[in-house]
Amino acid sequence: MAILKIAKMGHPVLNEKADPISDPTSRNVRDLIKDMHETLADVRGAGLAAPQVHVGKRLIIFAAPKEEQEEENIPETDFAPMTEIINPEWVPVSDEMSLGWEGCLSVPGLTGAVPRYMHIQYRGYTPKGELIEREATGFHARVFQHEFDHLDGILYTMRMDDLSLLVFAEEAKKFGLPPFPHQ
Ligand code: NI
Repeated sequence: MAILKIAKMGHPVLNEKADPISDPTSRNVRDLIKDMHETLADVRGAGLAAPQVHVGKRLIIFAAPKEEQEEENIPETDFAPMTEIINPEWVPVSDEMSLGWEGCLSVPGLTGAVPRYMHIQYRGYTPKGELIEREATGFHARVFQHEFDHLDGILYTMRMDDLSLLVFAEEAKKFGLPPFPHQ
């Protein structure tokens, strides 16, 4: 087990398309997943993609946890336990998009409002080689799309259409996040 170094914006591995994993059940993949979990826990992040730890392979881990005081009328598809997905694919279920604030361990200090599909379906393989298929909405859909983008060399800043909504988190803490129009 090891805490891995996280690549920052500017490192070429973050702009490359990652390769598919031929055997999701291999020992190498299992060891990498363990290290990614340890790395993510260390920085208390929501998700991590293999290219962020300098491995150009199609593997992401993420969680969309339910908070304790969460309202009850939120759909189950908004949430996901800590999940590992190998060779993921996804499609939007509807054209509806929404803006939401995102940060990225590879873009430290910044936060930006990013348009994402609100309702998606995704699939991929678990480290046991089993197919996993889910519907995702809300933060669950957002975190998946963010992590998936890393596999195609895309950072969230590249998805933004209004760069006035890219701010330092530290300033936003003092002055509040800038408002964005609802899409
Ligand atoms: Ni990221």
